[in-house]
Parts: sequence; structure tokens; C-alpha cells
Amino acid sequence: MADRLTIARPFDAHLHLRDGAMLRAVLPETTRHFARALIMPNLVRPVVALDDARAYHARILKALPAGAVFQPLMTLYLTETTDPADVATAHASGLVHAVKLYPAGATTNSASGVRDFDKVRPVLERMADIGMPLCVHGEVTDPDIDIFDREAVFIERVLDPIRKNTPGLRVVLEHVTTSDGVDYVRDGGPLLAASITVHHLIINRNHILAGGIKPHYYCLPVAKRESHRQALLAAATSGNTGFFLGTDSAPHTDALKENACGCAGCFTATNTMSCLAGIFEAADALDHLQAFTSENAAGFYRLPPDPATITLCKGEPVTYPDKIQTDDGPVSIFQPGFPLHWKVTP
Ligand code: DOR
Ligand code: ZN
Repeated sequence: MADRLTIARPFDAHLHLRDGAMLRAVLPETTRHFARALIMPNLVRPVVALDDARAYHARILKALPAGAVFQPLMTLYLTETTDPADVATAHASGLVHAVKLYPAGATTNSASGVRDFDKVRPVLERMADIGMPLCVHGEVTDPDIDIFDREAVFIERVLDPIRKNTPGLRVVLEHVTTSDGVDYVRDGGPLLAASITVHHLIINRNHILAGGIKPHYYCLPVAKRESHRQALLAAATSGNTGFFLGTDSAPHTDALKENACGCAGCFTATNTMSCLAGIFEAADALDHLQAFTSENAAGFYRLPPDPATITLCKGEPVTYPDKIQTDDGPVSIFQPGFPLHWKVTP
């Protein structure tokens, strides 16, 4: 088994960088290993228009550590009043690469998301015309639907009808968590893809709830039972171009996580590549790591492959700090629960 692996510098196709002090603290954790990332628009005041995306892009570039080479790919937050022409202008600018659909109330800062999917139909039709991808948080918000069933029900009641009504629409089912989602994407043809997080490859719902509640493993969509994790693992390590890394690294301060009503999100940016190398090695699939972390998302988003590389080396267990410090307070780093032997060399 090789103990050194050089791959194209990774692309995180789903990343929360936040803003202000949090942005400054978390950005270096991503730029250390990643060439580019698709930046989620769910700021407290969401990124709804091209001007918002331009301003946020500038704040990200300003926060870059000295010498970092990193391309933030911006997204717009879809609302029921989003104008199709504005979306087309944003796409044509080259700065905005996708639109994000949050069902209203599904997750962090999603209150301005979509309640009535018919209202966004003109935007989706325009996106299909211009080939602009729609990134979907795939969970229904109906309180009558069990939280563990919300992804499968969303596919049946919302996503499949949208795709059938909007031929040509390119869709990413974000942070897929179920075998239902994996099957749907595998059979969905070249216009459909899914991003997969590191934490959903590692934890199932027992990790959150058995032996004491673990707030740092709580995220949305919530991790499901083990058979679903196995389906995600098989998809991620298969080399299938329809599945790629989107970490959904989502920092919240420990005070907000370790709370009677804790926020959803796992902060994985720091150790993502070490975790993934271990996961792919255990699945005897290191030869597919580059496809998952670097090539497949670039292909879907029609970006040229990044010429830079990173090298991973295997050795004694690598240690990462438990937390990063931010001016808003500490943020715990995701703990995979197994030793990490792969290290990204400088
Ligand atoms: O766990 C999550 N955290 N899931 C999301 O969809 C949003 C994210 C966040 O922004 O905190
Ligand atoms: Zn997210």
C-alpha cells in the first residue's frame, strides 16, 4: 500500500465561511489544503443578489492568509422574489456559479428560503436555459414528517417534480444522507449530482445519540442509520462522477453548539483531507480519492482542473487541535473517532 499520494488540489463544493471574525478564523483552515470552494450564501443577511455576492467575495479575498491561492466560487440564495434576469446576469458575470435553494425553515438562516416552489419556477426555467446549477438543501420542513425521513420525502414530493417540470435543469442534491438519495442521483443522468460531507461518511445516528448526546455531531440533514452511511461510502469511493466532496463545514461557536437548543453544523475544514484519506484507504479506494475531492465537482461546475497539487503522507497518527479560537469564541473541530494517519504535507 502506497504511503504517499499526490492529487490535484481539492475543491470543496459546499462550504460555510460566515463573515467577520468567524470568516477570518475559519478561512485559513480551508485554504491550507483547498484550491477552491463553493461558498454558501446563508449569511445572517443572505447573499441574494450579484452585488451582495461581489461584496462578500471581496471580504473573503481580504481575509485570505498571506500567500494563499484560493478561488471562492459564489452562490446566490434563492427567495420567492428572486428575479430570473438578475440570476442570469449574475451567472454571466462569471462570479456566481450556482443558486442555492433552502426550503424555508430547513436549517441555519433559511427563514428567507422557499415556501411555495411554484413561485421560483421562472427562475429555475431560466437557469435550465443558461445551464446554471441549482444546489438543493433536500429536506422537507413539514413538522408531520419524521426528521429521519425528510430527505427521502423531499426527493419524492419536491425534487423529482421540479426536475420533471424543468427539463435541462442541472441540480446538485447537497449533503446527501440516505441510500434513497444515492440511488436517485445514481440513476438521475448527467444533469444530476450529489455532494457528500466527510462527517456523513463517518457518523451514523448512534454516534449522536448513544452514550450521551454529542452536540458537535449534530448537523442537518441529521446523520441517518448505518445502512445509509454505507450507501454514502460506496457512492463516494466508487469513482462515479456524479458524487463529489462538499464538506458543509459549518462553524458555530461551542457556546451555540453546547446549548439547550444547539445549532446544526460540523466544523470539518481542518482535518477533512486526513479523514478522507483514511476512509478511502480503508475502502481500498485511494485511487478514487482525487476524483471525489478534486475532479468530479470541477467537471460538474465546468471548471478547468486545478493545476496545483497536494501530497498526503501516511505515518504516525497526526494530531489536530480540539478547537480553533475565534474572536467570537472557540469552535470545536470535528473528531472522527479513529486515529488519523494521513497528513497533508506543506
Ligand atoms: O448542519 C448544517 N449547518 N446544515 C446546514 O444545512 C446549514 C449549516 C449551517 O449553516 O450552519
Ligand atoms: Zn450547508
